[in-house]
Amino acid sequence: MVSSEPSYHTVPTMAKSSTHFHRSKTSIFLSDGCLFLGGAFSALLIVGVFFSFTTPIPSNIPNLGSVTTKFTAAPAVACETSSSGPDLRFDPPDRTFYDDPEMGYTMEKKVHNWDKKREEWLKHHPSFAAGAKERIMLVTGSQPKPCKNPIGDHLLLRFFKNKVDYCRLHGYDIYYNNALLHPKMFGYWAKYPVVKAAMLAHPEAEWIYWVDSDALFTDMDFKLPLERYKDHNLVVHGWPRLIHEKRSWTGLNAGVFLIRNCQWSLDFMDVWASMGPQTPNYEKWGKTLRSTFKDKFFPESDDQTGLAYLIAIEKDKWADKIYLESEYFFEGYWEEIVTTFENVSKKYDEVERKVRELRRKHAEKVSERYGELREKFVRGGDEVVGRLKRPFITHFTGCQPCSGDHNHMYSADACWNGMLRALNFADNQVLRPHGYMHLDLGDNGAKDPSSLEKADRGPSINMDLHSYTFDSLTKGAELEARGVEKIPLKHLIEQVVHPA
Ligand SMILES: *[C@@H]1O[C@H](CO)[C@@H](O)[C@H](O)[C@H]1NC(C)=O
Repeated sequence: MVSSEPSYHTVPTMAKSSTHFHRSKTSIFLSDGCLFLGGAFSALLIVGVFFSFTTPIPSNIPNLGSVTTKFTAAPAVACETSSSGPDLRFDPPDRTFYDDPEMGYTMEKKVHNWDKKREEWLKHHPSFAAGAKERIMLVTGSQPKPCKNPIGDHLLLRFFKNKVDYCRLHGYDIYYNNALLHPKMFGYWAKYPVVKAAMLAHPEAEWIYWVDSDALFTDMDFKLPLERYKDHNLVVHGWPRLIHEKRSWTGLNAGVFLIRNCQWSLDFMDVWASMGPQTPNYEKWGKTLRSTFKDKFFPESDDQTGLAYLIAIEKDKWADKIYLESEYFFEGYWEEIVTTFENVSKKYDEVERKVRELRRKHAEKVSERYGELREKFVRGGDEVVGRLKRPFITHFTGCQPCSGDHNHMYSADACWNGMLRALNFADNQVLRPHGYMHLDLGDNGAKDPSSLEKADRGPSINMDLHSYTFDSLTKGAELEARGVEKIPLKHLIEQVVHPA
């Protein structure tokens, strides 16, 4: 199963009753590491480390001035400019690595000299060479079968839509895989054959950006600070101290990572994946990982602990090329985030009221320019705005939207409401330049206590989408106060009138 619902990924949390622990495939046990990590997350929020951003949005704003000049001076040139950029039809007959009959995409096929091969390919495809250093392709996926959770496929669709939106806004390619590429690499191991194949199929991309299906962008403006990662090949959310000193398997999260398309990464993934279920050493690795990371509570070898192991134990070999990011929500834990959306929205609304330029209507294509401008106002300054900055990625670890087998640490309702709120919070940022927005992030006034209890006991989240959202239409007054005129559309959205 190409599931991106890794049951075991980091679940940092504040104290919760340990009586809910189930030694089952779907539950995540609490541990000191988890508690510690929860603390780390809180500290992150309170201290407001967001101040330390360098330049999250590179200032590669297209020079509109020159384009305009061309248009007015000679329209013919303007037509030519449309043919610039990657040439999708040009593939010269020169031999590249693709012509090697030995070339293959599977995990078993070793790739050598990849950096050279990529470079050669780019040389033969000059239209792709331009901008290659910054090119990112987002890769994600889910299982081949329909979701067990009745609203699972709908949720995955919305999670995917969010990623498509983010990629469109920033000019990234996106690839969604839902075929199991290696019959034995199931669960959280399924993504490695996908990532490897994506690397080989996309020599034009410098970075492969894996994002789990249950993670979403909750700051559509923010861009990865690639400059910061220029000497690294793998970026994950994590804390060195938790891995090196505490030896906690939750010292990082492998659900979202940025990996450079280079030989180092292929070698690293070979070693990493050699702990997986397709190898005879799978059981042995389970034991090794568990004895190294004492807070790991389940016996199977998993990719997250495997990564922590390579960083902590094979430190000299790999660690200096792995960047553990913790200064912003490279990947944030949902339970800590979903309660902050209202206050964050308020802060952004305030900023928009103050800054005339941010209220200007504009084409979606040029949104990065406004994102960059907005960024200046929502970080820094005298106020502690750290916790009022939109979190970049919110990850619904443990909620399992597709199977519905959510971790019993949470109620189905907490997962569902959290997802709904996060999806709407993000979607508002997309709808806004299209002239609309959701009225409310997800009023749950229509909750039925009996169905809630049922959902908590059973393994599947059986929730009715509409009972939650329709009720939110009554919140128009609040929008009016925010300068948004109430023109009801069908169900969920309202037209936004940008104040002059
Ligand atoms: C939102 O802001 C209000 C007022 O400043 C504060 O009392 C409340 O605790 C904040 N909510 C969250 C979840 O941070």
